Amino acid sequence: MTQSNSTVKIYDFYPSFASFKTEILDGLRKPQKEIHAKFFYDKLGSELFEEITMLDEYYPTRTEIFILEQYKKEIASMVGIDSILIEFGSGSSKKIRILLDELPDLTAYMPIDISKEYLEESTEILAHHFPNLPIVAVCADYTELLHLPDIKHAARQVAFFPGSTIGNFEPLAAQKFLRRVSRTLKKGDGMIIGVDLKKDPSVLHAAYNDAKGITAEFNSNLLRRINRELNADFILDNFRHHAFYNKEFGRIEMHLISLTDQTVRVANENISFTKGETIHTENSYKYSIMEFQDMVRNNGFFPEKVWIDPNNLFGVFYLGVSHNSCV
Ligand SMILES: C[S@@+](CC[C@H](N)C(=O)[O-])C[C@H]1O[C@@H](n2cnc3c(N)ncnc32)[C@H](O)[C@@H]1O
Repeated sequence: MTQSNSTVKIYDFYPSFASFKTEILDGLRKPQKEIHAKFFYDKLGSELFEEITMLDEYYPTRTEIFILEQYKKEIASMVGIDSILIEFGSGSSKKIRILLDELPDLTAYMPIDISKEYLEESTEILAHHFPNLPIVAVCADYTELLHLPDIKHAARQVAFFPGSTIGNFEPLAAQKFLRRVSRTLKKGDGMIIGVDLKKDPSVLHAAYNDAKGITAEFNSNLLRRINRELNADFILDNFRHHAFYNKEFGRIEMHLISLTDQTVRVANENISFTKGETIHTENSYKYSIMEFQDMVRNNGFFPEKVWIDPNNLFGVFYLGVSHNSCV
């Protein structure tokens, strides 16, 4: 644990180099090559994601911010005083500020993110804006984190999971994650979660294929990261960004298409590609309100409230902890 100033503590559970190498090689050896979306987020990846959030085509961020702004008083009253807010995949920690403005009596804020340098930077900026707020930042892979650091006692804990990052999980993994989060909470606690809703595929297509090519840059930054960290020799221009809505699975898929037959060296191993073969780099599942509410039931939560924007693009759900059945 490092301590940067009196109100900020940082716990470092950054995943090991060995696990990064194993996961990347395991994914590239599969018949359908794949790389887990969590690996997008080195420092540049986090910065590129932040750029994506400001693009005209990328409606999710501004829509979720609109909802949080619109209903912040009601959401804050559900969080209550003497609570700890725990944010999963906190990124720039910008959205939480909307709630923090309404919660002067919060006991602590705990941002959790895998992107270490970016987490440190965002935490420092947040601490500057909220000098009296105790912040306990945790660098970790939240799918592996079994216990949260023990911090101050508070009346309640509320998880915050914005950005529709839940959509990056396979549905079964999303259920497992929800169960795991609910186990760190107790009855009376809650979770605020942002979910991208099902909609016209053309809107989705534009959001993941922006005209400036920032999403393409974000996607291919994965190869740049692997080149740097695993001594690989991907030629970035030999791969092209490809994103499309898969109606059958209700998800956007992102891939990197090999533009030629080629062999790439990754951590002393040869990985061969035929022309047109892809690396599957991300799924982003879209849910209807009912589908999502059904999913949370029996996974440690019950849907208590949902706020949506006037165009039904995005939903912010408040989930109560149920701790019933299969948890
Ligand atoms: C889609 S971005 C959302 C960022 C921010 N919450 C927002 O709403 O704009 C996903 C965030 O989750 C983090 N992340 C992704 N997978 C993660 C994992 N397995 N463990 C911890 N953080 C993860 C990324 O570093 C990134 O900051």
